[in-house]
Amino acid sequence: MGKDVIIACDFSSAEQVFSFLDKFTDKKPFVKIGMELFYAEGPSIVKKIKERGHKIFLDLKLHDIPNTVKKSMAVLSNLDVDMCNLHASGTVNMMKAALEGLTRPDGSRPLLIAVTQLTSTDQESMENDLLIKEPIEKVVMHYAKNAKAAGLDGVVCSPLEAGKVHENCGKDFLTVTPGVRFADGDIGDQKRVMTPAEAKKIGSDYIVVGRPITAADDVVAAYNRCVEEFVG
Ligand code: C5P
Repeated sequence: MGKDVIIACDFSSAEQVFSFLDKFTDKKPFVKIGMELFYAEGPSIVKKIKERGHKIFLDLKLHDIPNTVKKSMAVLSNLDVDMCNLHASGTVNMMKAALEGLTRPDGSRPLLIAVTQLTSTDQESMENDLLIKEPIEKVVMHYAKNAKAAGLDGVVCSPLEAGKVHENCGKDFLTVTPGVRFADGDIGDQKRVMTPAEAKKIGSDYIVVGRPITAADDVVAAYNRCVEEFVG
């Protein structure tokens, strides 16, 4: 599994995302399409970006009863995405159903990764709102192990957790890590950040980078810098 930089294309219209992607005339980066763009433009945006030669991580974070997730995953698999995700809190049965739905008649399927606890959830909100009293690090690792047991390919996690996830779930279990910033860049609203080089050192398999690339003066140079630091 090759290490790669995934650009978070957090735009709200096709026009914006295409004017951004038009700048990449040489290499076609792996891109993440999130809920904002998908809900604004519908499934056709996935097909259009795919036709331009990009790999796609469709970040829709499914969470529903197993049968609904299975059928929805079959639809996403037909869109020919390369990676998609769900919430591990939907249970092991839901994750197994998702894998069944994703698998195409020829046995191929997109990579499937799980969100453990969102990084916006802290110990206090987990205890008070969700009534989960265990330490958050233990909950994150437990959910990662559930994802592995269900047959998933990996988890989305902080780069700071990537090493521990590999220790617990094996080095082939993918860690896809947002919260990446250049050493000389703005951290914005991210709290716990790492540089691409640090993320590489700790063993992240994919880094997800948004504003350090999308808001840069020269977006192609910022992307190339990420690739150089992370992939080498
Ligand atoms: O602009 P920035 O680099 O912060 O973008 C990071 C991307 O990763 C965004 O699309 C954000 O929603 C996503 N993400 C995150 N933290 C998580 C899960 C996803 O920042 N725990």
